Amino acid sequence: MRSSTTALAAEADIVRARRDAKDLAASAGFGLLEQVQIATAVSELARNVIQYAGHGEIVVSQIRDGSRAGLEIVCRDRGPGIASLDRALAGGYSTSHGLGRGLAGARSLLDEFRVETAPGRGTTVWGRKWLA
Ligand SMILES: Nc1ncnc2c1ncn2[C@@H]1O[C@H](COP(=O)(O)OP(=O)(O)OP(=O)(O)O)[C@@H](O)[C@H]1O
Ligand SMILES: [Mg+2]
Repeated sequence: MRSSTTALAAEADIVRARRDAKDLAASAGFGLLEQVQIATAVSELARNVIQYAGHGEIVVSQIRDGSRAGLEIVCRDRGPGIASLDRALAGGYSTSHGLGRGLAGARSLLDEFRVETAPGRGTTVWGRKWLA
């Protein structure tokens, strides 16, 4: 069981987090499509941290639940929080002229997904994907 923690403060950290997530997914046994899905979810979450909170961290871990193996993503920041979480999760909502597809996309690529956010206190996104 391996894990990787990436401090997020600059564009290069997004690339590193994405690459580490893909490596961990491959070594956990995920096929190429799912490796790319996991890497994409990680880079969208990491990009949001840099864009909206400035800095934070993302932890990707190989996990096991009985006979099931999977990957867990925990992405945390202490930024401004997400004002309209329901709208942000529904997609198409952006405070930065983006497409508003990052969070909704990450959710659709993972099997489990949860966001905890509070104004002025920050945001934690938690997700899991299981090996079929
Ligand atoms: N970590 C975060 N801290 C604060 N606000 C956030 C965070 N992540 C997302 N948000 C808010 O939620 C909105 C939706 O995020 P989402 O990633 O879905 O779209 P986006 O970043 O606007 O565009 P893109 O499609 O390029 O990702 C953002 O515009 C922003 O207001
Ligand atoms: Mg985004």
